[in-house]
Amino acid sequence: CGIVGYIGSRDAWPVVLNGLKRLEYRGYDSAGIAIINNAGFNVYKKTGKVACLEAHTADKDKSGHIAIGHTRWATHGAPSDANSHPHSSNDNRLHIIHNGIIENYLILKEELLARGHTFKSETDTEVLIHLIEEIQNIEQTDLLEAVRLALNTVIGAYAIVIMDRGNPDQLIAARKGSPLVIGVGQGEYFIASDATPIIEYTKNVVYLKDNEIVLVKPDALLIKKLDNVVQTPLIQELELKLESLEKGGFEHFMMKEIFEQPRSIRDCMRGRIFPLEGKVELGGIKQYTDKLKNAERIIIIACGTSWHAGLTGEYLIEEYGRIKVEVEYASEFRYRNPIITDKDIVMAVSQSGETADTLAAIEIAKERGATILGICNVVGASIPRVTDAGVYTHAGPEIGVASTKAFTAQVTVLTLIALYIAQHKGTLTPAKLGSLLTELDTIPDKIQTLLQDNDLIEDIASKIKNAPNCLFLGRGFGFPVALEGALKLKEISYIHAEGYPAAEMKHGPIALIDEQMPVIFIATKNSSYEKVISNIQEVKARKGIVIAIVTQGDIKVKNMADYCIEIPDADEAFLPLLATVPLQLLSYHIAVKRGCNVDQPRNLAKSVTVE
Ligand code: G6P
Repeated sequence: CGIVGYIGSRDAWPVVLNGLKRLEYRGYDSAGIAIINNAGFNVYKKTGKVACLEAHTADKDKSGHIAIGHTRWATHGAPSDANSHPHSSNDNRLHIIHNGIIENYLILKEELLARGHTFKSETDTEVLIHLIEEIQNIEQTDLLEAVRLALNTVIGAYAIVIMDRGNPDQLIAARKGSPLVIGVGQGEYFIASDATPIIEYTKNVVYLKDNEIVLVKPDALLIKKLDNVVQTPLIQELELKLESLEKGGFEHFMMKEIFEQPRSIRDCMRGRIFPLEGKVELGGIKQYTDKLKNAERIIIIACGTSWHAGLTGEYLIEEYGRIKVEVEYASEFRYRNPIITDKDIVMAVSQSGETADTLAAIEIAKERGATILGICNVVGASIPRVTDAGVYTHAGPEIGVASTKAFTAQVTVLTLIALYIAQHKGTLTPAKLGSLLTELDTIPDKIQTLLQDNDLIEDIASKIKNAPNCLFLGRGFGFPVALEGALKLKEISYIHAEGYPAAEMKHGPIALIDEQMPVIFIATKNSSYEKVISNIQEVKARKGIVIAIVTQGDIKVKNMADYCIEIPDADEAFLPLLATVPLQLLSYHIAVKRGCNVDQPRNLAKSVTVE
């Protein structure tokens, strides 16, 4: 969910509303804003996107200099006006916005019901604000202390902001497991779940830490730990640029981000590869070089698209670094009593650096003595802060919910890590390393070339856009590409799609193939080329529609497939970087032709900060 709060001398409404629009990628089931003015206060909530809230409030009173707003990704309670945030206390004095889950809310709710509280929603959030209200009434304390006491009794994760109608010159916020950033202006403060709503007003921010609670007034900032110890705020300067949050002439963020990939991959490699010297430098993990090269095992943990990047990491690191790699879904790893030793390296891959399951998996690996390296995109996010060291992907802000440039940047970093290990372990000769790096350096240009096939890909999209199902098949380095291709398609077009190792098709998915089934093959010229050709024939024999990603100049597959998309030739290990891009475009065009919202697909959120 997205959270924005403002206190200062500006009109609070536009600050909070625009902030919510910037944060909408975090959830868009419903939105709401509570605002206080001299005449009283107003709370507006609406199911649907922030634009629905905007339309709903067009002719309403939106005046005031202090407000809190929320855009929701539903956990407890369906998306509805009543379940939308802000939620209010029993006496309607306190208003809260919340990201996260209060796990013991049902017990707390029963107790509060027994004591006469009534609830308007089914949410855990409303229970929390009632609890705070009750503690304040019983203990006769100020609000800050009541919030502190309440948070000491709840179990779960949260980022909250609370506004008090009785004290319209303050906001209180707290975090545990869900990010919160405080923007520090001149006589004004901003509070948000990430820095994107803040950047247009100030570059000075304080990242709240877990178990911290903050009180802001136009002229004051006080941070305490939940145990009541006052903290000194660390004000940091943001590096984010406002232009990177805009669409820059493209119709959708996703398209802009697909087309940005030659640049984002170059940025990711900048200052890190030295082809002539046959050298990779990764300053962020330098001090762990020996640990890394001597590791008995590397465990990669991630979720979603980042997990697919992790899978390419397994292939790359095993091939070049010759270290055993396991790739784990963070959510499974954390609940499985995993076997980890201090000789293991755990790599956490995450675009946002905030995914709750990945964070929890890191904690478990840490407790058991592993060295934790992070591969993240968002600078200063929670994961880079809890890992021992790491490598940023430097893809720039990714706004489209479906990950594109962040994925290829993650794969680039994993490629660099594999080659870095090889360099230090000596598992590749300097000559081979040099030639791989020289080739890696050409990948951004090759992506630039294949982006020219956009129109051809759009044509193919129009041919298969009505298919109810789609199969993506690849082998070796083509397998993670197939998984990612299928995920992208289902995420944004709602076509059911599955990615499979091509050879596994005969053990199940082959039963699905008929003349309506598009099968997308990664059929480039590499070690499994001939085998993939056999799989294509098996599909054609059953009248499936074959769309193949092939190497430029290919003839064999072209003679068999219904549609082909050519990509430039490259070493097999770089296949994921190239072959993924046309699949991103294919999904994009199919989704647009089906009238889907590609940047904000239904039910998804970009950053999942609940487990
Ligand atoms: C969500 C997003 C995905 C993303 C996954 C992991 O499900 O919609 O695009 O791959 O979370 O997120 P992370 O930020 O950890 O990479």
